[in-house]
Amino acid sequence: MTAINQVTDLDIRDGIAVLTLNSPPVNALSGPVRDGLHKGIKQAIDDSAVQAVVLVCAGRTFIAGADITELGSGGPQGASLLDVQNMMEDSTKPVVAAIHGTALGGGLEVALCCHYRVAVASAQFGLPEVKLGLLPGAGGTQRLPRIVGAEMALEMMGLGDPIGADKALEVGLISEIVDGDLTQGGVAFAKKLLAQKRPLVRVRDNDAKLAPVRGKPEIFAAFRAAHARKNRGFLAPEYNIRCVEAAVNLPFDQGIRREGELFRELLQGPQSAAQRYMFFAERQAAKIPDVPADTQKIPVDKAGVIGAGTMGGGITMNLVNVGIPVTIVETTQEALDRGLKVVRGNYENTARKGKITQADVETRMALITPSLNLADLADVDIVIEAVFENMDIKKDIFEKLDAICKPGAILATNTSALDINAIAAMTKRPEYVIGTHFFSPANVMKLVEVVRGAKTAKNVIATSMALGKRINKIAVLAGVCHGFIGNRMLFARTTQSSRIILEGATPERVDKVLTDFGFPMGPFAMSDLAGVDVGWNPKTSKGETLRDRLCEAGRRGQKTNAGYYDYKPGDRTPIPNEDVVKMIREFAASKQIRQRDVTDEEILERCLIPMVNEGAKILSEGIAIRASDIDVVWVHGYGWPVYRGGPMYWANTYGLDKIVARMREFANDDPVFWTPAPLLEELAASNGGFK
Ligand SMILES: NC(=O)c1ccc[n+]([C@@H]2O[C@H](COP(=O)([O-])OP(=O)(O)OC[C@H]3O[C@@H](n4cnc5c(N)ncnc54)[C@H](O)[C@@H]3O)[C@@H](O)[C@H]2O)c1
Repeated sequence: MTAINQVTDLDIRDGIAVLTLNSPPVNALSGPVRDGLHKGIKQAIDDSAVQAVVLVCAGRTFIAGADITELGSGGPQGASLLDVQNMMEDSTKPVVAAIHGTALGGGLEVALCCHYRVAVASAQFGLPEVKLGLLPGAGGTQRLPRIVGAEMALEMMGLGDPIGADKALEVGLISEIVDGDLTQGGVAFAKKLLAQKRPLVRVRDNDAKLAPVRGKPEIFAAFRAAHARKNRGFLAPEYNIRCVEAAVNLPFDQGIRREGELFRELLQGPQSAAQRYMFFAERQAAKIPDVPADTQKIPVDKAGVIGAGTMGGGITMNLVNVGIPVTIVETTQEALDRGLKVVRGNYENTARKGKITQADVETRMALITPSLNLADLADVDIVIEAVFENMDIKKDIFEKLDAICKPGAILATNTSALDINAIAAMTKRPEYVIGTHFFSPANVMKLVEVVRGAKTAKNVIATSMALGKRINKIAVLAGVCHGFIGNRMLFARTTQSSRIILEGATPERVDKVLTDFGFPMGPFAMSDLAGVDVGWNPKTSKGETLRDRLCEAGRRGQKTNAGYYDYKPGDRTPIPNEDVVKMIREFAASKQIRQRDVTDEEILERCLIPMVNEGAKILSEGIAIRASDIDVVWVHGYGWPVYRGGPMYWANTYGLDKIVARMREFANDDPVFWTPAPLLEELAASNGGFK
């Protein structure tokens, strides 16, 4: 065994050179890895005792991708990836990649420059660059279609999801699945190649899979149409598609040039910068300064959920999806049956789409124990309460839970905004009380805000954050205040959006400005979805607010097929209604609000700037640990477009000084609302930004 450098070894076994990379944790293509590959391959080629090369990785995976820390830094150091790839592809001795773990991004692009690929059955292959707002910029866009065909390449590059070894074998990406030791399997495969005198296959020269689709633009049109909704506003999916088009229509070298142009455009553009920022922000959110990563966690083997409504059902699904049995408690059999029917219906839908099997549906349903008795929660490790947003009901439940649940059980509430300290005070174990605020639909939305009370214990925080991860969510820690991080900022936005429609803009117009910005829906469509009557009381309603008037007129949102918009039964498409606009104008007149033309720019600023200002207060008060946590909340809980990086990131790019200046202009109408938070003012004055 010869050490090529600190991360690369070369071992010659019976005429086969085994080149092993060992750069934990994931053998990313850092400078030393590229150098090791370059020198190692060259040494093997130059050695007359070597007949073939097998590239293999130590540790848990094959090369899992580029070293993305290099992207934003001063640029790559060491041998260029292109030199490494050329050395492999042009080698006069066969080079075989022996793959385990995940060959992703640059890792797969290296493997595509080998003449053959073999892998263990658990290996995964993918070009996920699109998820960081990029495209594979090391020849992957031109080589992958030449080996798997254009349609499969569109799927892999356009969506960014990996495929397994079986699929890779089926589509020709690998030649063999190796059982047993991978290195030995790779060496045996190389010997077989030599014995059979198989040719050196350069992927770049393959045309067999592309020729049949040449002159068939409908393939690309169909792919674009199928994913138009999900990809709205994003540049990278379209650029990945264009690269596959180039692979089909241009000679290899021209295709590579096209790939390079499009790659550089994405890399230097604002979308990928925002998406890469968000990638790190999501990972950062798990770190809590005063709760070390090694904090002892409470084992969670059994859970309880209270309330089988919109949220309780979704939360239950999250838990049983990962095998945690749930006892779900309701007040009536009818509510219980209705809740479980919705859960089953959701699973059946997923099974119909082929994402889970019918057997999975039954396994998951079997993990749910319905109950009408809180006492059935005596032995669970965590209870998540999701009953009506009513403080008295919640206090009553927590007092009872304290008496029922075993010592050491976590008592969590899904409240959207209520004071968790007041809820905790109903128990003799406030250190075990915490907020786990899921977002609707809870089985779909990635975010959970974990809300620590004044007395919540560190191991309870650590356990709740870990549980979030275990159920495949992104957990962000928040402190107690009205609305925590996300809803508190939403309330600030709602104050303005509600005001703007009284000044002359229609709900449709306001919604359009925000959907054009990239939100999946605007504030009024969102209000209709959630229910205009959330928090509205018919007994005390006296037509004093626009909301009172809408609700009194029976316009309570999608559930009544009427809210700010009309809806056709069973259809969620908002249809603007002239009578609503008239109602708004009449209400504005009754309050003597002057009508004027509000520009789109003003609508956007008046909706987003209050969020930034509230975010600054949230930061100064320590409700959020860091600005990037706020961004994660808004991207994963409220559909803020990830390619704009979240409200605090957006504020930095928009310019804090400009934001403060605009606030001073808006302050003519409402000086209190538009007072800049001290932190915002301070950062703007010092030309700083939210870190
Ligand atoms: N809907 C959302 O978008 C959303 C989002 C985040 C958080 N939340 C919060 O989640 C909680 C639940 O909201 P939801 O939308 O699921 O409400 P929901 O009205 O759909 O469901 C509440 C359920 O709780 C049951 N319930 C009421 N009192 C009970 C009791 N004493 N014991 C057992 N069950 C009882 C009701 O029968 C009902 O089925 C609220 O605190 C809400 O603020 C809601």
